[in-house]
Parts: sequence; C-alpha cells; structure tokens
Amino acid sequence: MEQNSNKLPFLYLFCLFFFSALVSCQLDYNYYAKTCPGLIPIVRSGVLSAVSNETRMAASLLRLHFHDCFVNGCDGSILLDDTSSTKGEKNAVPNRNSARGYEVIDAIKANVEKSCPATVSCTDILTLAAREAVYVVGGPYWALPLGRRDGLTANETEANELPSPFEPLDNIIRKFSAKGLDLRDTVVLSGAHTIGFAQCFTFKQRLFNFDGNGNPDPALDAAFRQSLQSVCPNQNTSDTQLVALDAATTNRFDNSYYRNLVNKSGLLQSDQDLMTDNRTSSMVQNYSKYPYLFSRDFAASMRQMASIGVLTGQNGEIRKNCRVVN
Ligand code: HEM
Ligand SMILES: *[C@@H]1O[C@H](CO)[C@@H](O)[C@H](O)[C@H]1NC(C)=O
Ligand SMILES: *[C@@H]1O[C@H](CO)[C@@H](O)[C@H](O)[C@H]1NC(C)=O
Ligand SMILES: *[C@@H]1O[C@H](CO)[C@@H](O)[C@H](O)[C@H]1NC(C)=O
Ligand SMILES: *[C@@H]1O[C@H](CO)[C@@H](O)[C@H](O)[C@H]1NC(C)=O
Ligand SMILES: *[C@@H]1O[C@H](CO)[C@@H](O)[C@H](O)[C@H]1NC(C)=O
Ligand SMILES: *[C@@H]1O[C@H](CO)[C@@H](O)[C@H](O)[C@H]1NC(C)=O
Repeated sequence: MEQNSNKLPFLYLFCLFFFSALVSCQLDYNYYAKTCPGLIPIVRSGVLSAVSNETRMAASLLRLHFHDCFVNGCDGSILLDDTSSTKGEKNAVPNRNSARGYEVIDAIKANVEKSCPATVSCTDILTLAAREAVYVVGGPYWALPLGRRDGLTANETEANELPSPFEPLDNIIRKFSAKGLDLRDTVVLSGAHTIGFAQCFTFKQRLFNFDGNGNPDPALDAAFRQSLQSVCPNQNTSDTQLVALDAATTNRFDNSYYRNLVNKSGLLQSDQDLMTDNRTSSMVQNYSKYPYLFSRDFAASMRQMASIGVLTGQNGEIRKNCRVVN
C-alpha cells in the first residue's frame, strides 16, 4: 500500500512524458485527487440542483454521456457548438431538438473552473454527471477512473449513425459491438430507458401502421397501445409530444424497464425487440426478476462505455469552455 502510493507520482510523470506518444496512458481513480479534490462534490451538487429543478434532467445527462462516448469516443465532442467553419454534433439527427443538458454541464464546468482552473476536462465532468444523475434517481453508483481529455474535433457524420429506434436489433448490436460492447452490454445499457422521455414520432408507427397495412405492432400490449394512441394521435402535430419511456416508474431508476418488456409494454421498437429476439429475451427476463443483477451489470457496462476511445496523456486538451476548442 505504502510502496504503491509512493510510486504513483513517478508512474504518472513517466506516463506523461515518455509513454504518451507510444501507448495510451491509463485512466486513474485518483487522477484529480491532488489537483482538484473538490471535483466530485461540485459535480454532485450541480447535478442535484438541476435534477431537483427538473427530474428529467437525470435522464438527459445520462443520454448526453452515451451520445458523447459513441461518437469519437468519450471526448466531449457532443458539447462543441457549430462554428462558421466546422459542424458540431448538436444538429445531427439523433441530437437535434432531442439531446439536452448542455447548460447543466456549462454550469458545473464554470464552478469547477473557479476551484481548479484549466484542470478538469469537460468529458470527465459529463461522465461524472451521468453517474451522479443515475444515483440521485435511485440507481447504482460506481467508481470511475478519470483523466479523459477533451477532443479537438466533432464528427457530425458519426453522430448521424447513433443507434436509431427504427433499425433492426442486428444493426444495433453491431453498432455496440463496434464500440467494444457485447450483447449483454447492449441489453443492460438499454435499461437506461427506465427514466426519461421520448417524442411520439420515435414510436408512432407502432401504434397505427406497423406493417404498411394499417395494423399496429403485435408486440405491443393492446391496452398500452390505446393509451399511447390517445397521447400520440395519428397526426403530425403530435410528433414532438413527450411520453415516458417507462410508464410504470417514470422517474425512478429501477428494473421496471425490463418488467415492461416482458409485459409487451416497451415504448420503442428497439426496446421491445430485446424481448422478441431469442438471443436477448433470457437476459431481459433475468433483469425483470432480479433488480440487483441489473444494478450490478448496469454499473459495469457504464464503466465500460465510459472508456470508449478516450484521449489521455498529451492527446486532446482540457477545454476552458466546453462549447469551443481552446
Ligand atoms: C440501444 C439503442 C438505443 C436507441 C435506439 C435509443 C433511442 C432513444 C430514443 C429514440 C430516445 C428518445 C429521444 C427523443 O424522443 O427525443 C431515447 C431517449 C433516451 N435514451 Fe436512448 N437509445 C438507445 C440506447 C441508450 C443508451 C445506451 C442509453 C444510456 C446508457 C440511453 C439513454 C436514454 C435516456 C436516458 C433517454 C431519455 C432522455 C431524456 O428524457 O432527455 N439510450 N433513446
Ligand atoms: C428548471 O427547469 C426548467 C424546465 O422544467 C427550465 O426551463 C429552467 O431553465 C430550469 N432552471 C434552472 C435554474 O435550471
Ligand atoms: C467521422 O466518422 C465517420 C464514420 O465513423 C468516419 O468515416 C470519418 O472518417 C470521420 N471523420 C473525421 C473527420 O474524423
Ligand atoms: C406529415 O409528416 C410526414 C412525414 O414527415 C410528411 O410526409 C407529410 O407531408 C406531413 N403531413 C402534413 C400534413 O404536414
Ligand atoms: C406485468 O406483469 C406482471 C406479472 O404478470 C404484473 O404483476 C404487472 O402488473 C404487469 N405490469 C403491467 C404494467 O402490466
Ligand atoms: C432463435 O430464433 C431464430 C429465428 O428467429 C431461430 O432460427 C433459432 O433457431 C432460434 N434459436 C433458439 C435457440 O431458439
Ligand atoms: C440469470 O441470472 C443468473 C444469476 O442470478 C445467472 O447465473 C445467469 O447466467 C443469468 N442468465 C442470463 C441469460 O442472463
């Protein structure tokens, strides 16, 4: 113990100056322990105040982190605004009028800058905010290694390829797999849809014309469908109306997402497909029965997702303002 902690500064410097060009330096559980000891409480209180003002913000921060990590890796690229010469990711189809929480990250970043200027990356702040967000609405908590650095570019093309609720499960599984996430991670991380909201247009076709012949999706419970049809009538004007992803416990991070799927009450087609497909249905049934199993596996898959394509060492930068590169 004593010996290991004495070695840490040396290893850190070694990594920083000698290895950064050769291998990616590891993330570290104590990365900001000396340089920004107040970081976690600052992020926590920022998330707490945002979520107490609006419960949905917990879901929005979680999704923002997912959309950050799946495009260019977890590098804060989603936080970059468009400029006159470069396009960011905020206006990509899956994000435009949909991704939210940017102001919350800005506010936390401003507080972090006051305590520890030019030290903590925007992507580490977003990663921590997603963890705190899950915890404050009743979900698990997990240790996170830190030291991600912010990217210098965004990629709108890749953001347009984020998983869509309209594509077959095979595609979605391939997209997760391309990020180093397996079938179980796909099922487990989809459990994030135990909180938050979706606009009617993201599932409306299931209600009225699933097969092109005017029939609804047979995998959708009839009573649930009728209640959705009254919130999302078959007119364009209902497209942006919000509906809870988990009708049972909308604001609570629990395993009822999976209980809904077992009851044919998943909202998105990509959700219900996890129950229809025989590669994933046994996992769905397991998580519907054992909340602890879901909590444990969700924490593990979130840590895995938070390590996708991270920039460390001297790659990237520590942005001063999350919306623009320095
Ligand atoms: C498996 C593939 C996935 C698909 C196809 C998908 C699709 C969607 C869609 C269509 C919405 C509603 C957006 C809107 O109506 O504006 C949504 C919301 C959401 N997604 Fe996913 N998602 C997926 C995976 C994930 C993952 C891995 C996470 C996080 C770990 C996540 C977290 C969320 C959350 C929390 C919301 C609610 C956001 C809010 O209320 O602001 N999703 N998702
Ligand atoms: C509180 O939430 C509302 C939306 O419900 C939002 O318009 C407002 O900006 C939020 N206020 C603060 C201080 O975050
Ligand atoms: C953006 O992402 C696409 C799809 O992953 C990739 O083909 C392309 O090279 C990327 N563009 C840049 C500028 O990195
Ligand atoms: C309704 O939306 C569909 C699909 O976006 C579009 O093709 C159609 O023209 C719209 N109809 C009206 C009346 O706006
Ligand atoms: C789902 O099914 C379980 C077990 O059959 C039942 O207890 C529960 O009430 C159902 N929930 C809904 C929303 O139908
Ligand atoms: C799973 O379903 C596919 C077709 O949907 C079928 O070909 C396959 O045999 C099934 N596998 C098992 C283990 O039931
Ligand atoms: C279901 O959970 C048990 C532990 O409770 C585990 O041993 C088993 O592998 C799980 N099966 C699936 C398909 O997830």
